[in-house]
Amino acid sequence: MIYPIDSTNNDRQYKTVFFETFGCQMNKLDAELSLGLLQEDGYKIVDTVDEADVILFNTCSVRQHAEDKVYSHLGALKTLKQKRPEVIVGVLGCMAQKDGKAIFKRMPHVDLVCGTRMFSRLPELLLKIQSHGSHVLAIDENQIVNVKRAVTFRPNVYQAFVTIIRGCDNFCSYCIVPRVRGREISRTIEDITEEVQSLISHGCKEVTLLGQNINTYGKGLPGNINLGNLLSVLNGLDGLERIRFVTSHPADMSRDVIRTISNLERVCEYLHIPAQSGSDKILKDMRRGYTANYYRELINYTRECIPRMAVASDFIVGFPGETEEDFQETVRMMEDLRFHNCFVFKYSPRTGTKAAELEDNVPDEVKKARNAQLLALQKTISLEENRKLIGKTVQALVEGVSKSVAQRLSGRTRQNHIVVFTGRQEMVGQLVDVMIQEVTDLTLYGTIASAT
Ligand code: SAH
Ligand code: SF4
Ligand code: F3S
Repeated sequence: MIYPIDSTNNDRQYKTVFFETFGCQMNKLDAELSLGLLQEDGYKIVDTVDEADVILFNTCSVRQHAEDKVYSHLGALKTLKQKRPEVIVGVLGCMAQKDGKAIFKRMPHVDLVCGTRMFSRLPELLLKIQSHGSHVLAIDENQIVNVKRAVTFRPNVYQAFVTIIRGCDNFCSYCIVPRVRGREISRTIEDITEEVQSLISHGCKEVTLLGQNINTYGKGLPGNINLGNLLSVLNGLDGLERIRFVTSHPADMSRDVIRTISNLERVCEYLHIPAQSGSDKILKDMRRGYTANYYRELINYTRECIPRMAVASDFIVGFPGETEEDFQETVRMMEDLRFHNCFVFKYSPRTGTKAAELEDNVPDEVKKARNAQLLALQKTISLEENRKLIGKTVQALVEGVSKSVAQRLSGRTRQNHIVVFTGRQEMVGQLVDVMIQEVTDLTLYGTIASAT
């Protein structure tokens, strides 16, 4: 049920908002857009729940663990709600879309459940609770997200995420994302360019384009548009230094687009292209639409075209029916392809997906052991690869003062390494050359060679 929204009542009593985000970059960007809207509506963002009139969680459903975390955070608010019943507690995002009004049943102190396509109406929804009371449900699947972005409200002036395609049409058998995010909708090149241009005029130097499956960008738009066309247009924008894009799907990543990218100097050499498994049997059951050999050849082709390309991947261990031999094929893929970095997840059955109908028959200890083995292997590979950079000079976009080592700056290379180095505070936001002296598997350390 969707409550009719009455936006005529502007007599708002709520002034402060606490916001916490779980999940992927897409969710983080939606959080930023939501907070931009709330700030424009006069809300002040606060760092603790105790200072807040409104408490919002932007949630994730991709694995059970992500949901458990949110429910435990919500449970912890029960006492606060007893003491201050006027506080509004809201659940936004993917878990809100998936669980809907069941959230009110499990957590009656929650006032608002707002799905993945309704956050642009947050200010009105909060007013609605104020005038009509609790348990407002807004999970309309037909709503098209269209947010006028407040480009001045960003965590980092020099970098920005920009959604170019929402939803996913892929239905990988284990994945809940298409159910909670809906069908694919691409934004037009004009719309995206306008947003990026506005970001540039507010100091942005690096954009990361976001989509669950970025390679199908353009489907449904007039004029046979693809990701290569969009990247070519953005590559020509003055003032923009770097362009990144995530996440790529191997079955939809065309060689044509790879060749296009190889000629675009502002597109960074970083490709996040999850393989998920090295076993053909598991890939088939996952409905990924490619074989291990296809994936290997795609990566090899990419590296031939763009030799400096850093390739990152995701793997799921313990998918139903994954034998030791299947797992060893994943290990071999990781050993052979030497990824830049990898995210490894234990399979988590999601109700409503195809794979949830299969028996979750890999014991948790085995999932844990496989997970640890892959992470350890990747750590060794990353360290070996990073060591090759000692004595070399890399370009970094300076992001700020290092978290771990006081008085040092940190930034990112084009290949997405974190780099920590001595430098001056005024270098933040600039592109600098850093000479690498030491490395770990996760971080490069060096000194400034020159500011460009
Ligand atoms: N759209 C992206 C990311 C999807 S979610 C893509 O297609 O790659 C991010 C990662 O979570 C996936 O790449 C996958 O490795 C993992 N994942 C998704 N569903 C999962 C599940 N049910 N259990 C464990 N990991 C999962
Ligand atoms: Fe999920 Fe597959 Fe879509 Fe990625 S491509 S979001 S893994 S269904
Ligand atoms: Fe999670 Fe939703 Fe992203 S389920 S991974 S927050 S799209």
